[in-house]
Amino acid sequence: MKHIVRVITVLLSLFVTAAGLAQPYAQKDFSMEVDSVLNLMTLEEKIGQLNQLSSNERFTGPVIQNTNQLEQVREGKVGSFLNITRPDILVQYQEAAMQSRMGIPLLFALDVIHGMKTIFPIPLGEAASFDLALMESSAQIAALEASAYGLHWTFAPMIDVSRDARWGRVMEGAGEDTWYNSQVAVVRVKGFQGEDYTDAKTVMACAKHFVAYSAAIAGKDYNTVDISRNSLWEVYFPPFKAALDAGVATFMNSFNDLDGMPATGNKYLQTDILKGKWNYQGFIVSDWNSIAEMIQHRVAENPKVAAKLAITAGNDMDMVSLAYITHLKDLVEEGIVSEGRIDDSVRRILLKKFELGLFEDPYRYFSRTKELEDESIIANYRSVARDAGRKSIVLLKNENKVLPILDTKKSTSIALVGPLMKSQRDMLGAWAGRGETKDVVTVYEGIEHALPNTKITYIEGYNLENNELIALPDLSKFDVIIVAVGERHNESGEARSKVDINIKASQQELVKRLKSSGKPVVALVMGGRPVVFSEMEPFADAILMTWWLGTEAGNAIADVLTGKYNPSAKLPMSFPGHLGQVPVYYNYKSTGRPWNPERRYTFGYIDHTILPAYPFGYGLSYTDFEIAAPVLDKGRYAMGETITITTSVENKGQVKGKETVQLYIQDVVSSLTRPIIEFRGFEQVELNPGEKRTVRFVLTDKDLGFYNAETQFVTEPGEFKVFVGNSSQNLQEISFVLSE
Ligand code: NOJ
Repeated sequence: MKHIVRVITVLLSLFVTAAGLAQPYAQKDFSMEVDSVLNLMTLEEKIGQLNQLSSNERFTGPVIQNTNQLEQVREGKVGSFLNITRPDILVQYQEAAMQSRMGIPLLFALDVIHGMKTIFPIPLGEAASFDLALMESSAQIAALEASAYGLHWTFAPMIDVSRDARWGRVMEGAGEDTWYNSQVAVVRVKGFQGEDYTDAKTVMACAKHFVAYSAAIAGKDYNTVDISRNSLWEVYFPPFKAALDAGVATFMNSFNDLDGMPATGNKYLQTDILKGKWNYQGFIVSDWNSIAEMIQHRVAENPKVAAKLAITAGNDMDMVSLAYITHLKDLVEEGIVSEGRIDDSVRRILLKKFELGLFEDPYRYFSRTKELEDESIIANYRSVARDAGRKSIVLLKNENKVLPILDTKKSTSIALVGPLMKSQRDMLGAWAGRGETKDVVTVYEGIEHALPNTKITYIEGYNLENNELIALPDLSKFDVIIVAVGERHNESGEARSKVDINIKASQQELVKRLKSSGKPVVALVMGGRPVVFSEMEPFADAILMTWWLGTEAGNAIADVLTGKYNPSAKLPMSFPGHLGQVPVYYNYKSTGRPWNPERRYTFGYIDHTILPAYPFGYGLSYTDFEIAAPVLDKGRYAMGETITITTSVENKGQVKGKETVQLYIQDVVSSLTRPIIEFRGFEQVELNPGEKRTVRFVLTDKDLGFYNAETQFVTEPGEFKVFVGNSSQNLQEISFVLSE
């Protein structure tokens, strides 16, 4: 029978190609092929297509051992696998699929989050570059490497707007702003999928987690979510809509509930909005075991009810819970679920397999494994990773211009303090694909290489395991002390939420002690989230936020320390000055008692400012820029007219540098409360000393709109303000009127 399917599909493809309807695979209409296969399938085989299993070597959730997998594949009971990363094993599984009655190929997936083999900065770090082309390139390289392993599909990008730094997964997204997350979602989808995800050098992307997973109360991973319809539409939905419009192939739902129903069983989200209003044609995969977890949510009494809830709500593929494969057949036979509903999910999944060309050649993705060992290809990818690394480093402080450190012939002496200086694993961060520790350039190596004339001394400073301080030697002989502090690779990521995001007290104490030497101290802060370090801040002359930068971390950090690269990154998430401020984000809503620290009965705290230590959009350079006040081409605009905002930026310092000019808006009065300001544009400008450039932003009324009380997208006439500047807290404004 499997031969029958292969013959039918190949013949149909030939017919379509011969008829000149399309290039191979790309945008071809496969509905005939899909139906021809579907019509030959038994109900059990259809349900098998909805079943995704994990390898038994690698679990990315609670362990669910699953035996006799190859046999299950041969019986047509599995449609997809995740977490298999060895090409030889993938081939073996695909061969088993070819031995099944229908011979339907398997889809292979993995969390390729910030690189497969060459590891790039963590997504939050890379988002700090504000370099969209760069983010597209790193996703493209990740896809090139992942597809060379034989993978078809990555569970990325994560496009959950993240405001609470206690939530461990903030490292995986683009931070706190909705509009920026949408821009990043688009380029990451394009990077993974290329122009056409059916090309075997790309992978299908997955917009996740649909939806509002990041709104977990108190930042506790997997917690319940309690947000308004207004926040859902204004804050959490837009990046998903943007990913969809950019052609993302798949969606994943999420662990959290919304309005009392887990997203996996939520019909409003999956059927009414995503597949209905937004007309999404791809398939939705559940998150790890999230169908069965509806039992723990206590909305289902057993796996059968959970399966019914999920399939009825619109969830297509079951990631590892086995609820579908075990119970869907009975549910159909008992008339509780229609076979038509199952057919719809199967069609969506088969369609992807056709589009990927797997029916014609199930081994299509196994022809490029050699690339993974090709020195020149690897070198090329690593140079992009280094560039991404240095563009992601945020200069938070640079008192007395301690940085950059120049390599002078008169032999400077530098102390490198802290075990993170020599750590390889920590530089890769969480979700490091198949990145290998041995390939990582440490910070110590990077600096040593970059400063050949400088005497470098390593000092342990503290114990990486227990954080106890280690006695310091005499520091008087050093010209500069550089210390690495912060999180280890397993302190942010999934299931790594924290109640305390302060840098460890002992590490902050170490910085103080280093400063008591009277020498300039440079702190490298590492981690996967905004961290708090108010205790040590006054004692560090310079502070660089270096996140986890991946394989080329050491070289990237050295490039910035030495001024080979002048830092240009900006924070995509506000850094609190006090833990109690969390969640702190720039675009909070206007309240009836606006913040005024001088006045009682106003919004805020009595013991701390509401302002973060470092706001969204903030980041320094080794040069100084001056941004001029915004100018409008008119004072009054009619609906539909374009609004042109002009400003200029000038490099007032001594070295070449890049500034990110930012644009924010405010709808002065609207029918619902709106954020105090909203990010709506940015432009990066590279300038030589003394050089000045005009920057122009164009807005339309669409950029000024929002979802009203009836969840209709509207732009309301009236007064608006626009702001330009170099962070969300350093802005100049101008206003205009928008008339009907
Ligand atoms: C659970 C995570 O929430 C999700 O993001 C990931 O893709 C799956 N596990 C698979 O590893």
